[in-house]
This record gives sequence, C-alpha cells and structure tokens, in this order.
Amino acid sequence: MMKKRDFFSASVTEIVNVTDSWFLISLVYPGDVCPPAPGQFFMLRDPSWDIHPLLPRPISVYGYEPGVISFLIKKVGKGTHALALLQAGARVDLTGPLGNGFVPAKNIWLVAGGVGFPPLGFYRRIYGGRLFLGLPTINGQNPRILSECDHISTMDATGPFQGSVAQLVARHMEDSEKPSAVYSCGPQGMLTAIDDICRSRNIPHLVSLEEKMACGTGICHGCSFSGGENHVCVCTDGPVFDAREIWP
Ligand SMILES: Cc1cc2nc3c(=O)[nH]c(=O)nc-3n(C[C@H](O)[C@H](O)[C@H](O)COP(=O)(O)OP(=O)(O)OC[C@H]3O[C@@H](n4cnc5c(N)ncnc54)[C@H](O)[C@@H]3O)c2cc1C
Ligand code: FES
Repeated sequence: MMKKRDFFSASVTEIVNVTDSWFLISLVYPGDVCPPAPGQFFMLRDPSWDIHPLLPRPISVYGYEPGVISFLIKKVGKGTHALALLQAGARVDLTGPLGNGFVPAKNIWLVAGGVGFPPLGFYRRIYGGRLFLGLPTINGQNPRILSECDHISTMDATGPFQGSVAQLVARHMEDSEKPSAVYSCGPQGMLTAIDDICRSRNIPHLVSLEEKMACGTGICHGCSFSGGENHVCVCTDGPVFDAREIWP
C-alpha cells in the first residue's frame, strides 16, 4: 500500500550543474511512496551531516516520473552547497512528500521568482498554465529553464521585458484575457505585489510561502507565519495558501 508521507534513504542517480549557482539532483524514488504533487516538498539531508549543517533542508519537487524524483536547487549556504557536492550513488535521506500542493485548474497564471521557479515549473509540465519568471538578468541562465517559461522579466536590459515580474504580470492583465487564478512562489515582496494586482481585479491568488524549517512535519513550530490574526504552520498548513487566508 502507498504511504502518504515517508522517511526513506535514496540513491543519487544524477547531479547536473544547471548554472553557476543552480544544480539538478535526481534520486531513485521508491514505488511504495505516494507520488508527489506540484507544490509539495521534501526535507533533504545528507546522512553524513554532523553539526553544521545538521538539519534537513526543505526543497520543492521539480520533476517526477515513476522511479525518479528531481530537485532544482540554488546554492545559497552550507546545506545546499554540501548537497551540490554529492556524486551519483551517494545516499540522501528524504522525508515527504510534505505539505499541500497547488490545486490543478484551467487557465492559471504561474508567477515565479528566485527559488519559487521549481514547483511552478513542475506544475506547468503536468497541468499547463502560463509561467512568468522574474530574473535579475538573462546572462548566465540555462536555456532549458528559460524555455519552460512563457514570459520573462529582468531587472537589467538583457531580457524581453525590463522591470519586475509584477510589472510584467500587470502589463499582461491589461492586454489578455484574465486568468481564472494566479499561483505564485518567490520572495515575499514579489508575492505581495502580485497579491495587490490580483485583489484589485478580484482574481483568486494562491501563494506558496518560504519559511525556514527544521522538521517539516509540524513538530518544531519553526515555520510559523502570522498574517493578521491568523497563525499558520507553513510546513503542514501550507506551503500553499489562499492569499486571503494569510493576508486578510
Ligand atoms: C517549502 C519550501 C520549498 C523550497 N523549495 C526550494 C527549491 O525547490 N529549490 C531551492 O533552491 N530552494 C528551495 N527552498 C529554499 C531552501 O530550503 C533554502 O534555500 C535552504 O534551506 C538553504 O539552506 P542552506 O543551508 O544552503 O543555507 P543557510 O546557510 O541555511 O542559509 C543561507 C541563506 O539563505 C536563507 N534561507 C535559508 N532558508 C531559507 C528559506 N526557507 N527561505 C528563504 N531564505 C532562506 C538564510 O536566511 C540565509 O540568508 C525551499 C524552501 C521552502 C520552505
Ligand atoms: S518546520 Fe517544524 S513545524 Fe514546520
């Protein structure tokens, strides 16, 4: 019988440097663990970690097919740099799939910034949707990643649209048929800017929040988030929320 959430050790099948700062890690996925949904995440840990890093790191699913799961990871600190150094055949401890996912629906606009791209890239490959990605620059980006996006904004003049991804989304809202909902994942400033756009047009908005996590399973309360009077645990109540629930 498939288990909804599990702890298991998996072998690395491949690790590829996608850009100077991003890598793709693929692992064997056991047949008796529930398939992951877009927006769900795993806690990843190298079993050899001791003091620093010690705790597993939360990472969204970027790709899945029976037997293989992949994660697209940005190297930002000790944990992600350590994962990037693993070789094929190394073991990684995983807990998951965790959290809720994005609800599949038609005519969705997906808005990503920073480490928000992997879950929305996974969603688009399975369910479709128009993917907007905000980048600092096109320089040094991977063509395969860029080809997964329908619209790209850059803060410099290297891309097709110069400005923030929120400005790009606002521009498209004027020119095209409106989406049935917007799903976004990225830095908080980007999420609130997208939320303003959605609210002013009465468009439902689901956001995936990023908080530091120690357990991923609702035990430590390290990931609690307060929006107005609502206090939520991002790992178990989310990470995907209706924006009206967290920003009333
Ligand atoms: C549900 C969820 C899904 C995620 N999915 C992905 C993903 O698919 N790909 C990916 O590259 N990253 C993802 N992240 C972010 C990732 O977990 C952090 O970048 C990672 O834990 C940093 O670990 P580190 O040891 O390398 O850095 P640390 O040494 O722990 O920190 C380095 C820097 O990153 C900041 N940081 C650490 N954790 C987070 C966080 N959760 N959110 C924002 N800033 C953080 C720290 O404040 C510090 O400035 C996700 C986070 C969450 C909560
Ligand atoms: S990370 Fe421990 S409760 Fe959410």
